[in-house]
Amino acid sequence: MQERSMFDYKGKKVVVIGGTSGINLGIACAFAAQGADVAVASRSIDKVNAAVDALKQVNGNGHHVGVSFDVRDPEAVTKGFAEIEAQFDYIDVLVSGAAGNFPARAKDLSVNGFKSVMDIDLLGSFQVIKQAYPLLVKGIKQNGPNSSASVIQISAPQAYVPMALQVHVCAAKAGVDMLTRTLAIEWGVDKIRVNSIVPGPIADTEGFDRLAPSKGLKSMIADSVPLKRNGQKQDIANAALFLASDMASYITGTILPVDGGWSLGGAGAAMDALAKHLPEQ
Ligand code: COA
Ligand code: NAP
Repeated sequence: MQERSMFDYKGKKVVVIGGTSGINLGIACAFAAQGADVAVASRSIDKVNAAVDALKQVNGNGHHVGVSFDVRDPEAVTKGFAEIEAQFDYIDVLVSGAAGNFPARAKDLSVNGFKSVMDIDLLGSFQVIKQAYPLLVKGIKQNGPNSSASVIQISAPQAYVPMALQVHVCAAKAGVDMLTRTLAIEWGVDKIRVNSIVPGPIADTEGFDRLAPSKGLKSMIADSVPLKRNGQKQDIANAALFLASDMASYITGTILPVDGGWSLGGAGAAMDALAKHLPEQ
């Protein structure tokens, strides 16, 4: 599947947190392909370096930057954004997508296991968006009175579909979407639009492999999607290109499912079925 070529992000400064693999790297590459300068960040320096190489392969003319930090460490996030500011000066688009997930029955999940996911997905997102805010405001000042900035959070159907094995992720991603809706209200006056994308089950990703580790389970999930297929990374990247563009200039505070209709009904039942395959502890 090809990304649309109707967008012009030439010279735009795009930052993708958790952008070194999977869905988020797909988003980072899609922006680079449209001419953006892209910064990616995550914990593993090896993944960061590999992602920057991938961005250079997509668009060798772009100024691409890699930063390594853990979103759970406020000081490291502050330092990371200082590095980004030194390279980019300001930010036009922030994608906040760092997350952790594993399937676990609530009765077997330790409080620390629950907390780890809350710390990465929810507190981590808040920390990241807060650090990005002054740079987004700076970008709008720099780009002139008709410009705007965009924040896109990568949520999940768990935010509003209760799912077996996912009590920690459901709680965390519900919070992520409430951040989106709240910040959209507070930051509208600053001309910063804040939206969430809700990916469905996306093929060839860590997140999907963890929930549905076998080919059989993956096709069972595909069957529970109204469009009868699992998604591709490009499906999500296309939505991000749209949401950050001027074509979406009146869209803020929205929670956009890009899931083939999975969250309309199939998602909860499919996770019930998956739960039967997780061994009892
Ligand atoms: N089932 C139950 N509990 C689990 C678990 C699993 N599969 N994996 C981790 N935990 C628990 C640990 O037991 C620990 O709790 P404890 O101290 O009470 O034993 C807690 O979670 C933290 O584990 P730890 O391995 O120290 O965390 P970490 O900070 O190194 O890693 C995770 C964070 C657990 C979220 C890890 O899976 C991760 O790094 N994920 C990122 C990649 C990812 O999830 N991609 C998909 C995105 S959707
Ligand atoms: P992934 O490849 O594991 O992506 C997660 C990214 O976050 C990686 O770059 C990872 O890199 C980074 N990360 C994890 N913990 C971090 C931390 N503490 N600090 C900084 N960075 C951290 O997984 P994915 O499946 O593509 O998921 C991407 C996003 O899509 C997530 O927000 C997920 O919830 C959402 N999503 C996925 C699916 C799906 O089907 N895959 C469905 C719905 C929603 P490091 O390991 O280097 O830190």
